[in-house]
Amino acid sequence: MPDSITITDNRTGSSVEIPIVDGGVSADPWRKLLPGIWFSDPGFTTTALGTSAITYLDGEEGILRYRGYPIEQLAKSSTYLEVSYLLIHGELPTQEQYDQWLHDITYHTFIHENVRKRFLEGFHYDAHPMGMLVSAMGALSTFYLEAKGVDDPTVRAKQITRLIAKMPTLAAACHRFSVGMPFVYPDNSMSFVENFLSMMWKVAEPHYAADPVLTHALDVLFILHADHEQNCGTLALRTVGSAHADPYSACAAACAALYGPRHGGANEAVIKMLTEIGTIDAVPDFIKAVKEGHGRLQGFGHRVYKNYDPRATIIKNIADDVFEVTGKNPLLDIALKLEEVALSDDYFISRKLYPNVDFYSGLIYQAMGFPIEMFTVLFAIPRTTGWLSHYEELMVQDQKIYRPRQLWTGADERSYVPIDARS
Ligand code: CMC
Repeated sequence: MPDSITITDNRTGSSVEIPIVDGGVSADPWRKLLPGIWFSDPGFTTTALGTSAITYLDGEEGILRYRGYPIEQLAKSSTYLEVSYLLIHGELPTQEQYDQWLHDITYHTFIHENVRKRFLEGFHYDAHPMGMLVSAMGALSTFYLEAKGVDDPTVRAKQITRLIAKMPTLAAACHRFSVGMPFVYPDNSMSFVENFLSMMWKVAEPHYAADPVLTHALDVLFILHADHEQNCGTLALRTVGSAHADPYSACAAACAALYGPRHGGANEAVIKMLTEIGTIDAVPDFIKAVKEGHGRLQGFGHRVYKNYDPRATIIKNIADDVFEVTGKNPLLDIALKLEEVALSDDYFISRKLYPNVDFYSGLIYQAMGFPIEMFTVLFAIPRTTGWLSHYEELMVQDQKIYRPRQLWTGADERSYVPIDARS
């Protein structure tokens, strides 16, 4: 049996055989056989935008790998900064490469004073931190004009270092402004995550001492969120990057996509849902209402995963460690009961609906003291690494500019009617 498909144009009887390569078929022979007939795929549910060697995802088996390494192994043994090196460069670093990477990231954490004083502080007092972050990422391109040299790998590498390093500083600055607290400068003697926590929470103490368990938990959460194949934000990044816009502008576009509640905002929705349910006793009635079509079980289901989201399993274990330090989030018991009831109910079993990454992450963030508005910002910090890995891959591949076609359903040509002659 040949590893190919055959397309026949029934109008003419012409056909073309297209080989299946890497699990896909090229659109080129289709285009040649059927000029002007476009392949309709709203939501890109069946379209591969090209080849990629960054993140492997098998939704049926519940597998997630970065550059071939299983997410479980990375979460157990690696660090976010080592994972970010892996995602960007394709290989785990040697000790020497890691030391250099750590040094470079640590020494690019400061942001230009004008970014903070003139730009961030120009927002309205109640600005959403995620809206501020989207704008600040885009604004960085005006501070690093050489970033427009996207064809130069050395220039790109510099911007990648800057962006990964500055994300915690920008994120914390957005939070501090939104709650009226003074900005805390980065401390280069601290680790990546400790430094972020210090910039978030430091008040008047000379040195903020981050809890090691919480620091480790956040580092693992950063690993789990660092990349996730061709999701909505990454597609936005690739679209803007395909026009050869600089990496700051492309990442700002991705960040704007992440801001959407269908994408990065579900962990926030989970907390709201659990708060509304209120008690364990109310869980069965809530599940019944969902089955009757009244709303959805937030943090359940996934477009790609039709099995347990492997990130959710890891997060559930982290939650235990975090709650030992912070005290249990009172919403946890409701979440556990919800999961238990849903996973034994035929409605959820038959539709392959399992907890996704967002089901438990919000509970952890909340227990750690992060306000709900910061949840998506916490997602954006590590996802910047994923976005930049895709940016780099795109530039090396030098793909065509993204420019899909459409199926026309509008009016045929018609003549302009003056306003007083319109009915
Ligand atoms: N609660 C109840 N029913 C559900 C849910 C849910 N969370 N998710 C899907 N279904 C049902 C849906 O009603 C449909 O049933 P039927 O066949 O009877 O019409 C069936 O399952 C298939 O649903 P779908 O909407 O066609 O599936 P999708 O792949 O288009 O949607 C999803 C995926 C993630 C948008 C959806 O599962 C959902 O809305 N989940 C809740 C929101 C959520 O947790 N989002 C976070 C996703 S993970 C973070 C990220 O990757 O960005």
